Amino acid sequence: MSEFAEITLGGQSYKFPVVTGTENEKAIDISNLRSDTGYITIDRGYKNTGSTQSAITFLDGENGILRYRGYSIEDLAEKSNFLEVAYLLIYGELPTQEQYKNFTYEITTHTLVNEDMKKIFDGFPVNAHPMGVLSSLVCSLSAFYPMPVNPLSDRTYLDLSIVRLLAKMPTIAAWSYKNSQGHAVNYPKNKYSYAENFLHMMFALPVDDYEPDPVVANALDKLFILHADHEQNCSTSTVRLVGSSHATLYSAISASICALWGPLHGGANQKVIEMLERIHQDGGDISKYVDKAKDKDSDFRLMGFGHRVYKNFDPRAKIIKKAADEVLESLGVDDPLLDIAKQLEEIALRDEYFVERKLYPNVDFYSGIIYKALNIPVNMFTVMFAMGRLPGWIAQWLEMRQNREPIGRPRQVYTGANHKEYQSLDKR
Ligand code: SDX
Repeated sequence: MSEFAEITLGGQSYKFPVVTGTENEKAIDISNLRSDTGYITIDRGYKNTGSTQSAITFLDGENGILRYRGYSIEDLAEKSNFLEVAYLLIYGELPTQEQYKNFTYEITTHTLVNEDMKKIFDGFPVNAHPMGVLSSLVCSLSAFYPMPVNPLSDRTYLDLSIVRLLAKMPTIAAWSYKNSQGHAVNYPKNKYSYAENFLHMMFALPVDDYEPDPVVANALDKLFILHADHEQNCSTSTVRLVGSSHATLYSAISASICALWGPLHGGANQKVIEMLERIHQDGGDISKYVDKAKDKDSDFRLMGFGHRVYKNFDPRAKIIKKAADEVLESLGVDDPLLDIAKQLEEIALRDEYFVERKLYPNVDFYSGIIYKALNIPVNMFTVMFAMGRLPGWIAQWLEMRQNREPIGRPRQVYTGANHKEYQSLDKR
């Protein structure tokens, strides 16, 4: 039996159909609300508003569940690898051995970028934040590797564009770092895996025989998996909105990199480490900072805590916390910031303010501890998030285009001046 919602406006009753998802999530379809009633809804920050129906990622915020195409994040983080997860997110199913081999080969052999892109790198000051460099260079791919106006019209070329993005992102990211150090860039090597190649391009120097540490590469691959998609978060909603105007995939991804950069979103992982450093340098007085986070007159927030959807533990934070212990032990790193983070979590989760607001550690709370142990510079942390999130952004953009979603164009309630007669300057 079909379900519907009934509202009464101006004494008249209106019914709107209820949509039920495969995990029994419910939504009221208000597609005809304005045409039927003249009313719109308003929902600051879209806290109660669904922008689409998607088959890619499922989140259950109350129970701390995250699944990519039905597979649990715990299974994928433990048993899969990043390129396999990227294929799963983008093409909808786990690849066969043949598909995986071809996909990996294509990505491995498209890691070079057009040499003219170096001129763009050279145009940035050395202190440019790598997220700004990354967004600019990704957008420049539209110029170096033009896409057809209708990317779905040529599936082979579309798949090549997807491969180019996945393959060239680590090169652009690593080169932005090398540029900031005034170092010569390292070219990718086909003998390396995805994560190993990134580490090679980041850390190899002409004066040594750097070889990526397998422990570090595995940790990075797992972190990429954990960041790969997260349904309609701020940056993914950006890729869908920009893509809905039929701008190119590259420009939509460039825009989502900028959205992720914000400290309330992906930029939080950099802010968490800066916060932990500040607490450490201030003598490690955890309670002082928990109190500051609760003080409405203070603009201090516990970075890495809280989430719009998760009102329970972020399952990714649990996995990353465990991985942090394992990676630091394996690398013989003793980082006081990890102890501070654990104490902060323990105190906050016992504190009424955090309990009442269901504020738990999110994906950004522990990830920086691992990046730091892997010698990733702090201002590159959000770039790591972007590299991990790339397949999710691509998958969401592709689903939006394949489903022929209309251009995104929200309405508003106007609160400005009513009509005024114009008065010429000499009369004012
Ligand atoms: C990511 O959406 C996604 O899926 C994002 C992400 C992904 O994978 O794409 O998971 C990645 O962005 C994780 C979040 C990273 N950001 C941070 O860690 C920044 C710190 N956290 C917050 O600023 C905040 O929790 C947000 C932005 C994450 C969520 O904000 P909401 O949902 O708008 O909630 P809110 O700001 O309205 O907070 C509700 C209450 C407020 O108090 P009251 O007004 O009710 O008294 O909780 C308080 C807030 O002041 N609060 C915090 C807090 N987070 C919320 N108080 C102190 N410290 C915090 N971190």
